[in-house]
Amino acid sequence: MSATPEAQGTRERPPAAASGRSAGGAGAAPEMSRLPQKRTHTCGALRATESGERAVLQGWVHRRRDHGGLLFIDLRDRYGMTQVVFNPAAAPEAHALAETLRSEYVLSVAGTVARRPAGTENPSLPTGEIELVAGELVILNAARTPPFYINEDSPVDETLRLKYRYLDLRRAHLRETIILRHRVVKAMRDFLDARGFLEIETPILTKSTPEGSRDFLVPSRLHPGEFYALPQAPQQFKQLLMVAGMDRYFQIARCFRDEDQRADRQPEFTQLDVEMSFVTEDDVTQTTEELYIALVERFSEKRLLSRPFPRLTYAEAMAKYGTDRPDLRFGLELVDVSDLLGTSGFGVFRSAAESGGIIKGIKAPGCAGWSRREIDQITGLARTFGARGLATAAWTPDGVRSPFRQHVGDDIMARLRARFDAQEGDLIALVADKPAVANEVLHRLRDHLGARLDLADPNVLCFCWVVDFPLLERDKERGAWTFTHNPFCAPKDDDLPLLESDPGRALSKQYDLICNGYELGGGSVRIHSRALQERIFSLMGYDAGQIESLFGTILEALEYGAPPHGGIATGLDRLIAILVSEDTIREAIAFPKNQAAADLMMQAPSPVAEAQLAELSISVSRPPTSSP
Ligand code: AMO
Repeated sequence: MSATPEAQGTRERPPAAASGRSAGGAGAAPEMSRLPQKRTHTCGALRATESGERAVLQGWVHRRRDHGGLLFIDLRDRYGMTQVVFNPAAAPEAHALAETLRSEYVLSVAGTVARRPAGTENPSLPTGEIELVAGELVILNAARTPPFYINEDSPVDETLRLKYRYLDLRRAHLRETIILRHRVVKAMRDFLDARGFLEIETPILTKSTPEGSRDFLVPSRLHPGEFYALPQAPQQFKQLLMVAGMDRYFQIARCFRDEDQRADRQPEFTQLDVEMSFVTEDDVTQTTEELYIALVERFSEKRLLSRPFPRLTYAEAMAKYGTDRPDLRFGLELVDVSDLLGTSGFGVFRSAAESGGIIKGIKAPGCAGWSRREIDQITGLARTFGARGLATAAWTPDGVRSPFRQHVGDDIMARLRARFDAQEGDLIALVADKPAVANEVLHRLRDHLGARLDLADPNVLCFCWVVDFPLLERDKERGAWTFTHNPFCAPKDDDLPLLESDPGRALSKQYDLICNGYELGGGSVRIHSRALQERIFSLMGYDAGQIESLFGTILEALEYGAPPHGGIATGLDRLIAILVSEDTIREAIAFPKNQAAADLMMQAPSPVAEAQLAELSISVSRPPTSSP
């Protein structure tokens, strides 16, 4: 059998070696005349059991220490680090060449594995009992001084990190995150494969349909003036795969959405996308829950707070936490006191109640002693979330301190205290506003207090399901009904009559998976009858022509024996960020975009040549104002 190309290359002329310099061994010259030997181990592999053996390591100069005579190099690769020692007496040529080494040079070192002298072992390094005593050194490549330290975990400006992402990825923390991501994806595949799911790819160039966000469009050269859209999610394809009889599908799916960026959003991101036939909501949530428990047990040292995952209805979540993605690591439930204060003598409360608003609040335990400045600070925070103000009451050893006490009277103050179960030392903060504003502000305040009062334990993961969402909501711009999650979500069977009589009250078979206040996933049981799907589209104000041109394919497919089906998609980037306790999903992605949706490394987006535009029959009316 002939040698593999790689092996041949190693013996004959590997490209990297041609530019290298070598020293050591019989007849070695400063300009490399010999080729480096193939590596025998990675930089994380050698242990004391290999003492006395010959080894060849290849990797990057992580750190260099010159001990006047002996020269030490920590040689690093993806697998770990090994100390290499150059002794001027034993290997003078290799030592001389080693003196020219700088950080991030790429080396091949051959030598003998030796136990480190007693007392110099490094127990924090898996290879810390041994060192490689260098005999030969080949510099495979030199390196410019990196723009930031690769051998330190010190904070570095993110713009620089994104521009030089290939160097950032050399740093231990990000490297370990990317390795974890690989392992998590592999575990997902194994878990689903064992349960009969098929991994099926779906197109990236597809059709633009209204699914919630703005599409990224791709012009077609062969069809001038026409466009593909990049998928916001493989939603319709996975449903079509169910019609095709594939029964259980999954995909590690790339999705593209042109929306405003936030810490937990990227224009392109990855979902674990799943769809199953002949299922109810419980079948999908159960499978997902088992997967997530298995992943957390295997990949996280954090404590899983509740299993099975608690279930909250949307209405409960909004009432208690002001959000449909509550952080359940701590309590601090909101309390609606509209009935108590809405008719009180305090104008702010009364006018809010009279104009359809609510009065709702949160207790900040142990915060009665907050200074005027601290109260102003939290009021300022509430204003940034949309509140007009915050009304506070603090129960101190000297009695209740509150700007509205004299307006509402002692009896109401006592009942207010009882509603919040406020003890001496507690403070409450109230918002009087439209329900949506009051909930949003209090949800943000709750998260703020959770962090500030150390209630949100970073070592705990608390998943929950939020269910029973409304099917429809009013589109803010058009005023018409629109879907709350996606247009294919089925209404609850009992609520079908409401579709005509009171659509806003109809609940859906949607479920969202939440973890520590992040929306990790969402899915639903789908509509599988054409008639019902058409009914929903027309409720949303689409006419027959629009329905046909936007959704004709899926509607037709529903007529060819579509099985009942449902599924879910969970965000892989968000999961990894949660597992490694990072606030932004940029830390979970090898090559992320920045907050302005730009790729700073490849400099995308960028202008293209006129000829390319002409080929696509595109003319740009506003040329870019700055070069990339
Ligand atoms: P949804 O739109 O809720 O559902 O998305 C599912 C999950 O994908 C993740 N996600 C994102 N992650 C990073 N950046 C983004 N811009 C972004 N947008 C969404 C979130 C979210 O929970 N087709 C349906 C699923 C279904 O019904 O089966 C869908 O895509 O973690």
